[in-house]
This record gives sequence, C-alpha cells and structure tokens, in this order.
Amino acid sequence: MSFHPIDQATARLNRSELAVPGSQPQMFEKAAKSDADVIFLDLEDAVAPDEKEQARKNIVKGLNDIDWGSKTMSIRINGLDTHFMYRDVVDVVEQAGERLDLIMIPKVGTAADVYAVDMMVTQIEQAKGYKKRIGFEHIIETALGMQNVSEIAAASRRNESLHFGVADYAASTRARTTIIGGVNEDYAVLTDPDSAGNRAVHWGDMWHYALARMVVAARANGLRPIDGPFGDFSDPDGYVAAAKRAAVLGCEGKWAIHPSQIALANQVMSPSEAEVARAERILKAMAEADAAGKGAVSLDGRLIDYASIRQAENLVAKHASLHTAG
Ligand code: GLV
Ligand code: MG
Repeated sequence: MSFHPIDQATARLNRSELAVPGSQPQMFEKAAKSDADVIFLDLEDAVAPDEKEQARKNIVKGLNDIDWGSKTMSIRINGLDTHFMYRDVVDVVEQAGERLDLIMIPKVGTAADVYAVDMMVTQIEQAKGYKKRIGFEHIIETALGMQNVSEIAAASRRNESLHFGVADYAASTRARTTIIGGVNEDYAVLTDPDSAGNRAVHWGDMWHYALARMVVAARANGLRPIDGPFGDFSDPDGYVAAAKRAAVLGCEGKWAIHPSQIALANQVMSPSEAEVARAERILKAMAEADAAGKGAVSLDGRLIDYASIRQAENLVAKHASLHTAG
C-alpha cells in the first residue's frame, strides 16, 4: 500500500437511491415505506421554477413529520449557478437539519463549489448546535465536473459519494442518446472483412470511460461510487444490465427514478450467496496457506493470493453489513 492513507467515508448502505420530487409530497409516505436504502427529496430538475418554494416547504415538513425509519435522507439542492440554491440550503438545513443525513450537489464543477456549500452548511450547523455532521453526495454530470472529479472528490471531509448523472453528462458533452442512461447503437465499430467478406459489429458501452473515471476518483478518496438514473422504467432488463455493468466496475449502488427499480438495484448491488460462499472459501484457503508459510495457492484450479483476500474480505464485510441492516 501507499504511505498515503485513505480515510473511508461514513459507511452507509447505498444500493438503491430513490429520487422523489419535492413538489409531490403525496409520494413521501410511500417512499418512506419502500425498500430504498437512500432517498433524495429533489429540489432541482424534477421541480419547476415556480414550485421551488413550495417544494422546500414540503421537504421541511416531510423530513420533520414523516417516520423515515432508518433510511438515509438526502435533498438534492439546486445548482450553484441558480439563486434557488442558497435558500435550499438555508431553509432545509435550518428547519429540518436534524433528520437530514446528506446533501446532494448537482452539476458540481470544481472543488470551490464544494467549499462554498461546505462553508454554508458549517455555519448553519454551528448556529443551530447540531451534533451530527451532514454529508455530501456529488453528481458528476458535466464535462467540467468530470475534468475536475479528483479535486471534487478530495474537496471536503463531508464528502461521501460520487454519482454519475448520465442525463446531464450527455447534455454537457453533447453525447448522442435519447433515453436517460440508455445507449446508442452507433457506438460500434466493424471488424475488417474476413476471407468470406463478413464483418462483425463490435459494440461498446458508451458510458464506460465516464463511469470508470468516476469510480477511480471515488475509491481513491474513500467515497462510494453510485450509478445514476435509467429513464425507461418499463424496461427492467435494460435497468438490470446497466446496474450490473456499474457493479462490475465497482459501483455500490444505482438510482431508482421509479419505485419498481428499487428491488432491482438492491438485488444487483448485494453479493449473492454463491459469491459470499466462494469468498469464505478463499479466506479459509488463504488462512491455511498462511499457516503453511505460503503467499499464493490454488483454489479450484485458479490462483489466489493476498489480493484475493482483500477482495474476499470486502465482499464478506458487505454481506455482513446487509445482515446487520436487516
Ligand atoms: C442526473 O441528475 C442526471 O442528469 O442524470
Ligand atoms: Mg442531472
């Protein structure tokens, strides 16, 4: 390991993150009873400009009055380029800061954006005498945010997670897509013709680079990488495929923009019994190898070594945390 220690953000279950518009308070009770690990009450893009003020009031009342159980509660504030943002922070943190766990900052572009919100939240927390520190979730969804993702990830001790906001990212980079989080069949190349003149289409995931870059920045700073929205909620197969590929890259969770996506995210983002059983066998085999003075052994005809222990430990710890969470 490097001599540079990586502090891990406050541990939270974040397999599914449900988006709920702040302008739709009739949805709050149902969201509270759902199986979502994290809920963000939205003040930004799901709320029309002339509804922002009422949405803030709904959120303050909802956070204070509804029994959200052990859910992690977040609000998505408006962007720092709008005049809505300061009121979002001041009103909600002042009036409902005790039940607020996280603030989601959209379209974050630079480390200074994080600093600005940190300064405001710190003042309010001190003035109100809150004991608990509110954490930050950042949506990486602009070209600027992606360019500065490492600095953003390291910009505050409040930071907990980075989220890939594929819809705005597509808009910012002028990528060609139609469905939020979907793909474009034009992202493909053709092989050279074989002797019979046949050519194969090699199709790729157009979001791979962005997601992978964000995962690296998150993990290098002890944060959770979370995949963002998948807009077609009538396509569970498409959702599951997108969630799986994010999980394979290291993401811990995915947004649900519709309640039907919560169970899918929870399932994909939880280790399966087979994975846990294999991880436990790896740990056992490595403990035996260690006792025999060996650093690497084979299990089922495959090499395992100390790196396998770290992967297996991550998986078993994740499984244990799910059990503790009930
Ligand atoms: C989320 O905010 C997105 O733009 O995808
Ligand atoms: Mg967005």
